[in-house]
Amino acid sequence: MIIFAFLHELKMLEKIKALQDEIKNAVVSTMEEVEELRIKYISKKGSISQLFDSFKNVSTEQKKEIGKAINDLKNFAFERINTLKEMFESTGNNDQFIDLTKPGEPFKLGTRHPLSLVKNEIISIFGRLGYAVAEGPEIEDDWHVFSALNFASEHPARDMQDTFFIEKYPDVLLRTHTSSVQIRVMERTQPPIRAIFPGRVFRNEAISARSHCIFHQIEGLYVDENVSFADMKQTLLYFAREFFGENTQIRLRPSYFPFTEPSAEMDVSCSICEGKGCNICKNSGWLEIMGCGMVDPNVLENCNIDSKKYTGFAFGMGIERIAMLRYGIKDIRHFFENDIRFLKQFESSI
Ligand code: DAH
Repeated sequence: MIIFAFLHELKMLEKIKALQDEIKNAVVSTMEEVEELRIKYISKKGSISQLFDSFKNVSTEQKKEIGKAINDLKNFAFERINTLKEMFESTGNNDQFIDLTKPGEPFKLGTRHPLSLVKNEIISIFGRLGYAVAEGPEIEDDWHVFSALNFASEHPARDMQDTFFIEKYPDVLLRTHTSSVQIRVMERTQPPIRAIFPGRVFRNEAISARSHCIFHQIEGLYVDENVSFADMKQTLLYFAREFFGENTQIRLRPSYFPFTEPSAEMDVSCSICEGKGCNICKNSGWLEIMGCGMVDPNVLENCNIDSKKYTGFAFGMGIERIAMLRYGIKDIRHFFENDIRFLKQFESSI
């Protein structure tokens, strides 16, 4: 008799636990279904009332424990069913259940534009060398874009074929390069100056896969006492290795810019074929990525910086070109067309 009673109590505890789980996990989507739940569990003929009936056969020693368990279950069921009812009432629509306890849909995050990714990476590399960031206006004057940068008055870049002029030709124009920001910074700051200038530039060029009338550049400038060409080489080598990989080599080829003397073009070893030769580097093993040189003393003097005391180097690179090399993009127009299929490919990047 004692054994039977014990078994009976064990079964009751199991039943209570099973009912509790059922009620907890019940899924309902209409008010009618909530009512069905109520009838099934807490009405006069419901499962919990039946438990109270079986309770009569529980031994006196176990009555306290089992009685408490049934009461807890009953309270739990009332609470759960009332909560569900309230939810339906608060939505004001008894046909359509909205489960307000459900986790929300995740927000779809946007993507960064590949030009921003490349720009931010370049800023962070030069940031590690102590370069600050400055910006200048896109609508400029002749002085900051050409004259102060030592362009001769008959230089072809001043021509309307290359430059967009606004109003009063030849005074107000869209900057054709970010070198203009060098002048703006040097006019208001005495050395030491160590900064980079990212920005948008404009040239009156036909749009094709390789060129656009709007593009982006990053300019760099370092002016102090005793700044040498060797300092420039080492700085640019550091940049190239940080950006293109630690085995990258650089090559400086003599060139000409009015605002630097001597001037050079910098190539990096092709990161795609590792210098072996491919169609991106046109089988040369090298990719041209920027112009650079020692700031011409005339430019320093134009900004009231003593060229006997100070020397400096400058460099400038096109962000589109570098992004095209990094991501294998064959047509510059992709950057400006905002085709979602193109932009989506940069989704996981920060
Ligand atoms: N401003 C030049 C251009 O748009 C790029 C450049 C070349 C910038 C040499 C420099 C430099 O600072 O030293 O083609």
